Amino acid sequence: YSEENQRVLEAYEWLTKLYHHLLRYTKDGKEGYNYLSERSIDDEAIDTFQLGFAPNIRDFIVKFLEKKGFNKQLLIKAGFVTLREDNTISDRFQGRVIFPIRNHLGKTVAFGGRAIQEQGPKYLNSPESELFQKGKLLYNFDLAKRHIRKENEAVLFEGYMDVIASYQAGIKNVVATLGTALTESQASLLKRYVNQVIICYDGDAAGQEASYKAANILRKAGCEVKIAYLKDGSDPDSFIKQNGAEAFKSQVLRASDTYMTFYMRYFKKDYNLSLEAERLDYIQKILKELAMVESSLEREYYLQELSKEFSMSLDALKEELEVFRLKNG
Ligand code: GTP
Ligand code: MN
Ligand code: MN
Ligand code: MN
Ligand code: MN
Repeated sequence: YSEENQRVLEAYEWLTKLYHHLLRYTKDGKEGYNYLSERSIDDEAIDTFQLGFAPNIRDFIVKFLEKKGFNKQLLIKAGFVTLREDNTISDRFQGRVIFPIRNHLGKTVAFGGRAIQEQGPKYLNSPESELFQKGKLLYNFDLAKRHIRKENEAVLFEGYMDVIASYQAGIKNVVATLGTALTESQASLLKRYVNQVIICYDGDAAGQEASYKAANILRKAGCEVKIAYLKDGSDPDSFIKQNGAEAFKSQVLRASDTYMTFYMRYFKKDYNLSLEAERLDYIQKILKELAMVESSLEREYYLQELSKEFSMSLDALKEELEVFRLKNG
């Protein structure tokens, strides 16, 4: 780290402790603590993830960090405060629950701040910097990696709360992208530690689309992927809260789909399967993808599924599949 970045890291360390202390032990942080309690986050998780609260005061951080010897320029550059039009500065995070974002060495390099009232953006992040590039970092990777190694599997979520709820429930091989699409850099980071990745994004349309994209990036990086499916727009955090950890393991993680099964379900969205012509188009689309599956056993298995679902003869499907396989060489 450069000297300046070293100072920024120190400032993050101070602030993380301060925000955490406020949330945990003071009246100023009570709002944040109550918010997390309502969301069933316990003290142990609050401590593990060093969750905190930024009070609703405009110049709280400036005063605190200036007393610690940090100059304004650095505070602005690091994004702790923002410069307003009238040239005054104010804290970036006010009245928000703070999620410290640690890099892979466990050092806090950014904050995520969640609004506790319906006002402003739901989450606010620190700006990107030399120390913090969203696309290169996975939330919780530092704590998760030994569990990932042990389980020989990683679970990929969308958000902070999914990771924390899961970790609290004892499922610890979990990381998250921070609301952005998975990047190749994140995929190759995972690949260095593990082959098997379960993608467990939110059960809404956006989550499904993101799952499809993430699956392909992970496959390109050489990972074997499975895709977990959450019903009715729920997310891992809300599912665990409602149904508990065991149900999450057995009904969601263990029940996750192979890539091909996900693919067959996902692309139904593009076809009106009650129309014959579209049904045939859909089947062709699936066969094209299936033609690229290397294992003949797997190809046979999915052909059976198709044959059952569309009441078509296995032979006809096989013949068509062979045509696609020949085209692929
Ligand atoms: P909760 O509503 O607190 O349970 O959060 P969530 O994680 O379920 O949120 P959601 O599924 O909407 O988004 C997933 C992740 O995207 C979040 O954890 C954030 O990292 C990120 N995100 C969501 N909304 C915003 C936003 O308004 N701004 C930014 N910068 N990031 C967001
Ligand atoms: Mn603590
Ligand atoms: Mn979502
Ligand atoms: Mn969500
Ligand atoms: Mn959520």
